[in-house]
Amino acid sequence: MGADRYNVPLYRPFEKLISITVRGKQFEVPENQILLRAFQYLCPETIPFGRYCWNEECQYCRVIIRKPGSDKISQALSCKLMAEEGLEVVEMAPELQWNLSQLLQPPSAEPEVQAE
Ligand code: FES
Repeated sequence: MGADRYNVPLYRPFEKLISITVRGKQFEVPENQILLRAFQYLCPETIPFGRYCWNEECQYCRVIIRKPGSDKISQALSCKLMAEEGLEVVEMAPELQWNLSQLLQPPSAEPEVQAE
């Protein structure tokens, strides 16, 4: 992953993955990225098709977060906020919920084995 059809890197340069939590689930994303781009790393087939302006106008990327080492919950725009190690995304705007729905699904139950 990295270059798109215009030969422009999709992600800022990174050397390692960092851990973030989205609604209680932990994920690994590239360092040095805005949070919306980190979400794109996790869901490359849905985030690019969301109705995001990517420049702080539409508000469709709004998230409620807890910064690492803080108990305080605050709002942020994921197109502006840099992802950082230990960031917790507590809640998000409906557009993000829709685009990240495959990540946020509860694990499916194991099929029951029928005794013969
Ligand atoms: S993507 Fe539009 S405000 Fe963040």
